[in-house]
Amino acid sequence: MNIVITGATRGIGAGLAAHYRAAGHQVTGTGRGAGADVVMDVTHPADFAKLAGAMGTHPVDLLVCNAGVYLDKGQSIDYGYGADMWSKSFAANVTGVFQTVQTLLPNLRAATGKIAIIASQMGSDTRAPGGSYIYRASKAAALNLGRNLATDLKAEGIAVGIYHPGWVRTDMGGGEAAISVDESVAGLSARFAALDIAATGSFLTWDGQVHPY
Ligand SMILES: NC(=O)c1ccc[n+]([C@@H]2O[C@H](COP(=O)([O-])OP(=O)(O)OC[C@H]3O[C@@H](n4cnc5c(N)ncnc54)[C@H](OP(=O)(O)O)[C@@H]3O)[C@@H](O)[C@H]2O)c1
Repeated sequence: MNIVITGATRGIGAGLAAHYRAAGHQVTGTGRGAGADVVMDVTHPADFAKLAGAMGTHPVDLLVCNAGVYLDKGQSIDYGYGADMWSKSFAANVTGVFQTVQTLLPNLRAATGKIAIIASQMGSDTRAPGGSYIYRASKAAALNLGRNLATDLKAEGIAVGIYHPGWVRTDMGGGEAAISVDESVAGLSARFAALDIAATGSFLTWDGQVHPY
């Protein structure tokens, strides 16, 4: 398979890239710095030309929109959550996902590929324990984006899945998180393999449970 993974320089994205490369797939990983095949910032609209140029007309079988930020950890409702934090978070977690999909749509069409959007359980409206307003709202938007892309791309046979990767021991998840990158990657890659047009628009956990919207 020809696979594109955003945010493949660290954490879950790096784990997915290593997993697919070890299985013999062609992986293009993006990131802002060392280790990226395509150096690009998903919050810089002009950078998407680099991704389009790198992929050319190559068909893409699987696009994993993984790059994301969690900037408002521990913010105070009384004096935190500044406007700049909102705009930076939405630029990465929402606009960045849309522009990645839009850029690679010709490549996905060429392969009748699949799209995996790494959202979070924190994007669920049903599960709303409070706090982290910016991250939660941005992941809720990523979930909504995935659901609507699923509707629009269904007739073309392009399936879209939205995923909670687990609470994972990465720079973002922290050392106390519940599962390793390898556990998350094993679950997610099985979910991506099972994604088909009948399941398009589903929101699943890394270990295959249906997540409430
Ligand atoms: N870890 C968890 O427990 C957890 C739980 C639920 C959901 N998630 C989601 O899973 C995804 C991966 O998380 P992670 O834990 O692996 O995070 P991470 O360790 O912080 O890695 C984030 C990755 O995203 C990239 N990235 C961030 N902002 C970017 C930007 N503006 N442009 C390009 N790349 C950018 C980073 O690249 P650089 O190296 O260039 O910064 C890095 O490769 C995220 O969408 C996150 O929200 C994680």
